[in-house]
Amino acid sequence: MSEKIETIGVLTSGGDAPGMNAAIRAVVRQALAKGLKVKGIKRGYAGLLNEEIIDMDAKSVSDIIQKGGTILYTARCDEFRFEEYQKKGAEICKKHGIDGLVVIGGDGSFKGAQKLSHLGINTIGVPGTIDLDIACTDYTIGFDTAVNTAMEAIDKIRDTSTSHERCSVIEVMGRSAGYIALWCGIANGAEDILLPERYDGNEEILLNHIKQTKEIGKKHHIVINAEGIGHSASLAKKIETETGMEARATILGHMQRGGSPTCTDRVHATVMGALAVDLLCQGKSDRVIAYKDGKYVDFEIDEALAMKKDIDEYQFTVSKLMSRA
Ligand code: ADP
Ligand code: F6P
Repeated sequence: MSEKIETIGVLTSGGDAPGMNAAIRAVVRQALAKGLKVKGIKRGYAGLLNEEIIDMDAKSVSDIIQKGGTILYTARCDEFRFEEYQKKGAEICKKHGIDGLVVIGGDGSFKGAQKLSHLGINTIGVPGTIDLDIACTDYTIGFDTAVNTAMEAIDKIRDTSTSHERCSVIEVMGRSAGYIALWCGIANGAEDILLPERYDGNEEILLNHIKQTKEIGKKHHIVINAEGIGHSASLAKKIETETGMEARATILGHMQRGGSPTCTDRVHATVMGALAVDLLCQGKSDRVIAYKDGKYVDFEIDEALAMKKDIDEYQFTVSKLMSRA
């Protein structure tokens, strides 16, 4: 590990998330303020291996804080799971004088960052994913924007569901985590929320609930279904057949990953990006930044990856109570 950082690299990896640009901007401006050089690595680890490396200055991050996506592009790079390519990545960093690296992404991206740290490139992870599924942190860049985007879309679907007196099964993102589903379920007043963390596949309970709400005269029945459970179309068909209530499925999909970041996402992304540079300047490496119990903190990547988190049980209880009309 080098003692004094001179050049910081920054990349975004895995699924994009609104606010990644704000984080890139913060890394660049904080580094420049400290007299360091900054290099942007395009397309995550794939771009690193292809040496897609550009010089960045204060102007190269002008007018991006409000933009969704990532100006550095992002990619998934399976090769990077192998030592041979990790070593090549570290060599390329050294060749370009990159002695400190900020990786903005999720758990998978942090594993790559950890490998680079062990190969002598001081590396800090910044949590960026709409799924909120990074255990060490209460907040991940992009979650707030994504839930607001989904919430607005679900409100619209609710209007048409009510007009037609239908059941709507709405699938939100979350490969293995139900945070988006739970938050939208509460915010949209959904009648049912299916979470990978809690749903046991018992459709009877859901079907009976739909029959009950129909009987008491509810004009719609909104089911928020997390992507991790999936099968929204077949579930809607079954609901229609078994309950007699017309049903439609909508998969919100990638629209949840786009759009201008909310204030919350911009602020946290900016502070985390700046902090990543500060940690590198303090000689730290192999760490990931988190927002925990109202404070910005950092953890060793190994420790962060070993942590587990679950959805908030009280939030889940309240969500169920609120849907009982
Ligand atoms: P996320 O970072 O959002 O969790 P992925 O799981 O898709 O997204 O991981 C993003 C990228 O991180 C992968 O395409 C790969 O390049 C890198 N990565 C994932 N797992 C590892 C690993 N075990 N070792 C090294 N790199 C990894
Ligand atoms: O960013 C996380 C996520 O949105 C997951 O919820 C989803 O399963 C996945 O990315 C889909 O990513 P892609 O379509 O880019 O493979």
